[in-house]
Amino acid sequence: MSHAAAINRARLAELTLRERAQYAVGHPASMRAFEAAGANSGHLLGGVPMTWMRAWPGGFPLYLATAHGARLADIDGNIFVDFCLGDTGAMAGHSPAQVQSAVAERYGELGGATAMLPTVDAEAVAGELTRRFGVGYWSFTLSATDANRWALRIARQLTRRPKIAVFSYCYHGSVDESVIVATPQGPRSRPGNTGAPVDPVTTSRVAEFNDADALERELAAGDVAALLMEPAMTNIGIVLPEPGYLTAVRELTRRHGTLLINDETHTFSAGPGGCTMAWNLEPDIVTIGKAIAGGIPAGAYGLSAALAERIMADESADLIDTGGVGGTLAGNALSVSAMRATLEHVLTDDAFSLMIGLADRYTAGVADVIATRRLPWNIVQLGARAEYRFCPEPPRSGGESHLAADEALDEYLHLYLANRGILITPFHNMALMCPATTDADIDAHTALFSDAVDDLLN
Ligand SMILES: Cc1ncc(COP(=O)(O)O)c(C=O)c1O
Repeated sequence: MSHAAAINRARLAELTLRERAQYAVGHPASMRAFEAAGANSGHLLGGVPMTWMRAWPGGFPLYLATAHGARLADIDGNIFVDFCLGDTGAMAGHSPAQVQSAVAERYGELGGATAMLPTVDAEAVAGELTRRFGVGYWSFTLSATDANRWALRIARQLTRRPKIAVFSYCYHGSVDESVIVATPQGPRSRPGNTGAPVDPVTTSRVAEFNDADALERELAAGDVAALLMEPAMTNIGIVLPEPGYLTAVRELTRRHGTLLINDETHTFSAGPGGCTMAWNLEPDIVTIGKAIAGGIPAGAYGLSAALAERIMADESADLIDTGGVGGTLAGNALSVSAMRATLEHVLTDDAFSLMIGLADRYTAGVADVIATRRLPWNIVQLGARAEYRFCPEPPRSGGESHLAADEALDEYLHLYLANRGILITPFHNMALMCPATTDADIDAHTALFSDAVDDLLN
């Protein structure tokens, strides 16, 4: 269902065909590479290294040649301003110099990417994560998904409770318990949930975001180990918490003995310590991944001192070997050195001030186009990240935001921008700033967004 009543659908379809044709003409080498890797002639499942790479518009993805800072080049030699930034994995910018040196030093000069031994970088990283996110005891993973998985196991172990609560249309990676939505008929496995080990309705409880009463009804059952949440939803457009809502969430989780896990993987855009620091939140556990190692695979979860003490003293929890928490390459020397360089030198407090200022400019530019064209759309900002949605008011919940989706408009705008040298995420309409983004990059986006809209309205 679309709210964008002002859009002439026939015109949109006609322009999308024009943009698809231009995309094919402008990216012949990428098209050939995709065809060569495709289901009929190649050996990649779905023709891509990871099946979600099929989400790019235009029928085939661009093939990466080089990327530095806020720019990347495809194998046809086209240059792009990159606001996708690897859907946050490259929020530090592509290959920032300080991370390049740290990785080269660790892998090349010193040697030893993975040796089952700690390096002194790890304590420095954990100390910095503590300064930023408050919780004091950290362990490393290779992805945000794993940080969430292991945090959930620890929460269940500590509370001796079986269930996990999440918000409808959340995304926390491929975490089994989170692939669930709320419907008027009750909780349901999210459509498309592939080979689920068990129906998530048996493992999870789900409520709509910004509805404290609904959350209380779920927690009151007394069987919820942890609420896994983003302090602002970012994977169904951006859905900000209403005033007082996060205070209510903390009060309800405490009252019902449920641990609160802030997944800051995307909300890290809110500042150097994500929403947790920016909004003075008090989670029991924080999880994070993607950007913290400058694009090198890494994730982390941090526990409060009280939880850390309890889990380490719990003799029935095997955290050392085969107890379900851990990975051979987790905490490896290479990832940890990249995390240290990223946190100490790239995604610094000063860098966040700059990036948030850039996102203010981006948001103001898009908001002005929406207002002057009287479009029933809106844009929401979360620190260094901004996202437009095709409904007049910012959605209040995942369910509302899901209804505001408009795949036809997404495709047209994504192709229009890509054909003229700008990338935003292939999923909905997210733009992210990195320390290397410039005012000129933002103004180029605003001008193109305005042209794309005017083409549509004419
Ligand atoms: C909030 C959040 N948590 C976790 C993840 C999973 O990250 P990864 O796929 O790197 O494991 C994502 C991915 O988009 C995310 O947005």
